[in-house]
Amino acid sequence: MEGAAGQVRETHEVMAFITVVLLIITAAIRIFIVVKKKDDDKSLKNIAFIMYALATISVFITGYFGGTLVYEYMKSFTWARDTEMKHASFYKNALAALQAGDESMLPSGYEVCPVCGNTYEEGNVDEKCAFCQTSRDSFEKI
Ligand SMILES: [Fe+2]
Repeated sequence: MEGAAGQVRETHEVMAFITVVLLIITAAIRIFIVVKKKDDDKSLKNIAFIMYALATISVFITGYFGGTLVYEYMKSFTWARDTEMKHASFYKNALAALQAGDESMLPSGYEVCPVCGNTYEEGNVDEKCAFCQTSRDSFEKI
């Protein structure tokens, strides 16, 4: 993965690593408190609390970058898959029309979303692309 998506993935991985390190250190502090019977040591408890808080923030940041990665950069794969499923249906209809020798079964044209490739039969177009919400005004007619 390269470019902006690669940077987001790398940040996500770094934050996940930082989270693990924070939690391991925090666990070590808590184990030390229990094993050494340092329940009265407020400074150790405060350090453990701060470490937990930092780990919580780190989990939030890691989740944010993971969600961004999935939502912003992986959705194009979902759009491509869904568009190809629609294309397969169009191809089957075209093949059936050819085999029947009746091209009147086919639409007069298609309209294609320029952002995601979603394709509609002419005359059966949504106001916005069902996948990426691009306005119909931007569609290309073929
Ligand atoms: Fe689209």
